[in-house]
Amino acid sequence: MFFRFHHLVLSLLNFTDAMYPTMTKKFKRHLITSALPYANGPLHIGHLAGVYIPSDIYTRYLRQKGEDVISVCGSDEHGVPITLKARQEGVSPQSIVDRYHAMNKEAFEKLRIAFDIYARTTSPVHFETASGIFKTLYDKGNFIEKTTEQYYDEETGQFLADRYITGTCPHCGYEKAYGDQCEQCGSSLSPTELINPKSAVSGNTPVLKKTRHWYLPLNEYEPFLRDWILEGHKEWKPNVYGQCKSWLDQGLQPRAVSRDLDWGVPVPVSGAEGKVLYVWFDAPIGYISATKELTPEWEKYWKDPETRMIHFIGKDNIVFHCIIFPAMLKAEGSYILPDNVPANEFLNLEGDKISTSRNWAVWLHEYLEEFPGKEDVLRYVLCANAPETKDNDFTWKDFQAKNNNELVAVLGNFVNRALVLTTKHFEGKVPERGVLGDYDEEVLSALTDIRKRVSASLDQFRFREALHEAMNMARLGNKYLSDTEPWSVIKTDKERVGTILNISLQITANLSILLEPFLPFTTEKIRKFIGFPSHEWLLIGTKELLKPGHPVSRPDYLFEKIGDEVIEKQVDKLLRSKQENNRQTGNLETVKPEITYDDFAKLDIRIGTILAAEKVPKTKKLLKLQIDTGLDKRTVVSGIAEYFTPEEIIGRQVSILVNLAPRKIRGMESQGMILMAEDSEGKLYFVTPGEKVPEGIMVK
Ligand code: MF3
Ligand code: ZN
Repeated sequence: MFFRFHHLVLSLLNFTDAMYPTMTKKFKRHLITSALPYANGPLHIGHLAGVYIPSDIYTRYLRQKGEDVISVCGSDEHGVPITLKARQEGVSPQSIVDRYHAMNKEAFEKLRIAFDIYARTTSPVHFETASGIFKTLYDKGNFIEKTTEQYYDEETGQFLADRYITGTCPHCGYEKAYGDQCEQCGSSLSPTELINPKSAVSGNTPVLKKTRHWYLPLNEYEPFLRDWILEGHKEWKPNVYGQCKSWLDQGLQPRAVSRDLDWGVPVPVSGAEGKVLYVWFDAPIGYISATKELTPEWEKYWKDPETRMIHFIGKDNIVFHCIIFPAMLKAEGSYILPDNVPANEFLNLEGDKISTSRNWAVWLHEYLEEFPGKEDVLRYVLCANAPETKDNDFTWKDFQAKNNNELVAVLGNFVNRALVLTTKHFEGKVPERGVLGDYDEEVLSALTDIRKRVSASLDQFRFREALHEAMNMARLGNKYLSDTEPWSVIKTDKERVGTILNISLQITANLSILLEPFLPFTTEKIRKFIGFPSHEWLLIGTKELLKPGHPVSRPDYLFEKIGDEVIEKQVDKLLRSKQENNRQTGNLETVKPEITYDDFAKLDIRIGTILAAEKVPKTKKLLKLQIDTGLDKRTVVSGIAEYFTPEEIIGRQVSILVNLAPRKIRGMESQGMILMAEDSEGKLYFVTPGEKVPEGIMVK
């Protein structure tokens, strides 16, 4: 025990600041932006883990360090998904964005995501700002004007921009790719690349029609972008740097910044009736308008090179924040560029991609309702699982384990023991600190080292690591209590227990500062228990934060165990939404008419093994199989050649219906039928036992 403890303390002591690079350039202030969520649906855990939890932790950390920092966000209220949703529901786009703006703003507040403002891109200030920037670039001759042929729906009389058009992806063959992007393979597309294009409004095949638009010639910014990113920002996260490099290496093309739509910021030049700014032109300008609405001093955050701007986003936003928006700002000329863009990968849910349309998500507003008082549990789990370097999975089992084994057993347990012992033996007053042994000294000095480690991780946007390091302080406290055993020592040496509890309470006070960026609800509670108001970062590990005699109170529990039934309920809910989705999309065939057991018992289904397989000449679909059924060896002709090659299926166990009357297929007698499962796309799967079994056993 003792040695393991020692090891922990010593490894912390070996730490020096020189182990981590320090920020070379000194900035006067920070501007934190977080991707503006589309106001066309509620927020889910993927949004939080990818963007908003990291941005909130970082903002809180900077504030605790006393930095001048503002954090801006808001709703992205333009774009085709919003108008499509409005059309589906038969309401106006404005009523859609009003609904989800209010809902998302409230959900963020309830989770204490620390934005200084949550603005919207339908606000007058935003219209003015976005038009203003377009106009400036237009007047400076930064755009090219081009007339091209674009898809037009003759029935509804409208051009089909972006998601108004769907079709088959030319890269992966996915049939529901959008005009701007394929969600299956992630390629970004232009509508004319789609195979078999269809109007998302009417289902019609569109025609090509001439239309005029403004383009930002990104190719002209390539040398600047290469220099700025590839030379100047090698410290960016590898996933971000890598994506930028690949865009730049492929060569940039002029990008249209206007669309033929009636929802958005009108193109502010004459002769542009019916045209609006492309949503990805106006939305990032939303960061600027949000800052304007927040403070009359907005320019110092946007135009002074001593401001450090950081964009928190998900990986699908990288090109817009690292290439297109910077090119716009550069063209305008008076704005600063981001110093870093710590984009995250995606969070999956129970092994499957989160999807709004399939209702495969944990919705923030539902969580807040179903788990009142457990806001920090969600914050904790999502930070600990943040998809920082690769896609990651959220499961309810892991949620439960992290709550029970880490928050309850480590953090809650430590704080509770320190406070309960103090109320019990020292009337709720911080005891005097007696003579400190080496051991006590080591624990105290480890606090500073932990602070430095957490800082170093946060400075590099390694939030998972930072949280883990921070929890080490609670682990250290627990270990200290178990090793020094104040509950036994009290029988013989009350003064020594005073020292132990004094130190434990100092650790508690330090935790209330250190964990604040991650767990603001919990640290607020702790601060209340111990009557300690400050959360200044640099206090961590400094001096006696709580003086002897300072009153503390008996705590309520910080966390409570989450039982299996709670988790099962959530897993069930997901299962139901998968089933509901299957019904609605007609993914599954409907149930056949009822039969009796006797009907079923007529089928003789056995497990067999494929001994040999060959293609039937001059057919596309047929394979001729030799099957060991345990009873005999049979020939079966099966229509599976489009999905399986003969080589890969030899040796496989399959289910075979052996009492089906023989049939002649292409001159061969097929003696039975292999059972196959078929999905909604017609793809086939063998029905194979979960382990190797003897041939000939019956399926019943
Ligand atoms: N609404 C976009 C999305 O959810 C993000 C916009 S970020 C901004 O992907 F910079 F454009 F605002
Ligand atoms: Zn694709």
